[in-house]
Amino acid sequence: MWQRVTAVPDSRHCSIALPPAATPGTSPGRDSRIDRAGWVDCGAVSDQPDKPRRRPRVFSGTQPSGTPHLGNYLGAFRNYTAMQETHDCVYCVVDLHAITVRQTRAELRRNTIELANTFLASGVDPERSIVIVQSHVPAHSELMWILNTITYMGELRRMTQFKDKTAGAEGESIGVGIFDYPVLMAADILLYQADAVPVGEDQKQHVELTRDLAERFNNAFGKAFVVPEPIIRTEGARVMGLDDPTRKMSKSAGSAGNYIALMDPPDVIRRKIRRAVTDSGTEVRGGPDKPALTNLLDIYSVLAGEPVPSIEERYVGRGYAEFKTDLAEVVIRALAPFQERMRELEADKGYTLEVLRNGAERAEAIASRTLAKVRERVGLVPRP
Ligand code: TYM
Repeated sequence: MWQRVTAVPDSRHCSIALPPAATPGTSPGRDSRIDRAGWVDCGAVSDQPDKPRRRPRVFSGTQPSGTPHLGNYLGAFRNYTAMQETHDCVYCVVDLHAITVRQTRAELRRNTIELANTFLASGVDPERSIVIVQSHVPAHSELMWILNTITYMGELRRMTQFKDKTAGAEGESIGVGIFDYPVLMAADILLYQADAVPVGEDQKQHVELTRDLAERFNNAFGKAFVVPEPIIRTEGARVMGLDDPTRKMSKSAGSAGNYIALMDPPDVIRRKIRRAVTDSGTEVRGGPDKPALTNLLDIYSVLAGEPVPSIEERYVGRGYAEFKTDLAEVVIRALAPFQERMRELEADKGYTLEVLRNGAERAEAIASRTLAKVRERVGLVPRP
């Protein structure tokens, strides 16, 4: 069965206050076509051979390794929410990925639950989508091992994120987990026979490796995996740091001035935006010579649902300070309903645990079918 993934649809459940015009697929601000979303084979490997799959499947994950920020939201979470309308979705808190960098036990636990809440507060509906913690479904690690056996050192060494994360470090002290990280990500995606993987621009190379591994396995052992497509929105795909517009906004950035955390209170948001670096000159306009303003205008445009040229026009002759003051209010307004929902979820811990328990059960049913097929293809003798 072939199904076309055309656009990320509008989401009725999105709780970050995007105006209607800024909802996915309809924003007038920037071209919101989905890159590389063409025809995808969504039924070649049905997990229930007798019943064709009803809708194509989505898988995506985020690491619980720090504070979720506006870049995560614009690059990933808003698409998670939107894609529920047309896809069966699995959203995963990838705790095994997070431990490739040393975490304290208390922080990892807190961040894991907080990130699950972030998915829910962004609008992921656990009735429709499966929400899981990666380590609750051991099949992720097992499939990773099998994929390790068909992955080349050379292709992992070429991963940009690996090069970035290990820049300046001696080979002797680079963790194997950091090196092998993309193979675990491939296992995450392939385990669920995902057709589409909504991510920010920085993860595209990893999804491409996943495609290569799926094809390599299918060719070597017989078809076992759907080959997934990355889904990357042009707008918000790469939100840059407020303190350095040449590097992406990142939760592992040295300074909290780099990012707007989704739970930052209004006065912190105002301060961070006031202090955000700007370009030389005074004109509020985007362009290659104005990386900082381009980034701020993009954030404004997506959150306010207003095209960049119209924002630029409104600020002619008004200067950076006024623009930044207004941008801060746009961000505060957009985040308010999300923050309120987060507070509700934080007050009801039992609810989140129940969502995760139920998610793990539903995920395991899909994952175990894929794993059984893979084991059979490889020739591993089933447990008697
Ligand atoms: P992570 O946890 O770094 O980021 C989660 C999602 O947020 C996007 N993102 C951004 N988008 C726009 N601008 C930014 N500044 C920005 N920063 C982060 C990321 O692209 C990502 O979509 N390896 C993945 C997690 C992962 C995964 C997976 C993703 C593990 N298994 C399977 C998809 C499918 C990661 O570290 O994302």
